[in-house]
Amino acid sequence: MKFFIDTANLAHIREAHDLGILDGVTTNPSLMAKEGIKGEQATLDHYKAICEIVDGDISAEVLSTDFDSMVAEGKILAALHPNIVVKVPMIKDGLKAIKYFTDNGIKTNCTLIFSAGQAILAAKAGATYVSPFLGRVDDIGWDGVELIAQIANIFAIQGYDTQILAASIRSSMHIVKCAEAGAHVCTCPLEPILGLLNHPLTASGLAKFVADAEKMKEIMQEQA
Ligand code: E4P
Repeated sequence: MKFFIDTANLAHIREAHDLGILDGVTTNPSLMAKEGIKGEQATLDHYKAICEIVDGDISAEVLSTDFDSMVAEGKILAALHPNIVVKVPMIKDGLKAIKYFTDNGIKTNCTLIFSAGQAILAAKAGATYVSPFLGRVDDIGWDGVELIAQIANIFAIQGYDTQILAASIRSSMHIVKCAEAGAHVCTCPLEPILGLLNHPLTASGLAKFVADAEKMKEIMQEQA
């Protein structure tokens, strides 16, 4: 399973990249606004800055919701860098735009997926990625991981090439569950990624090794 970071924060992107496990980045208008990015030129410059940090797929979302405007916007985004993936919402015009981009060699990420039916439509249109929002599904009392597993099963049976990009991840355990459920990619903020590092037995085991290493140094000094 690939790891993408779900943020527009350049410091977080650099930190995840420096861990050596980062495969890409996803952003959305809310994440861009959180970083204070406003206006077309600042937005395009920000995407270019992300592309300079990470050598992997970078999802950049269109802001419009009609076919012609999404196509126009997507072409500008895709022209920024070969790694840009145009992120398009799961609506009727979005589906048509995904088909258009697919036919024209532009990678797409179909966002705001909340059902297997929506994922099937996006895959049929040729989306590179579908993004089921598992955290938001959990938020309304349904089972987000079950949705990932259902889509993974359908895509395997049907032989779809579209990759399942598990999104809206809330915890480190969500990442593990997505890997088990068959997601090709998980995208999440920095914290759940860093959370995977932690285990109390690792912490206590290392504390003991460090203490014993000090004893070894004392013994070696006495023998010298
Ligand atoms: C996915 O691409 C979205 O940007 C994101 O995962 C949404 O997460 P949220 O539900 O925490 O806003």
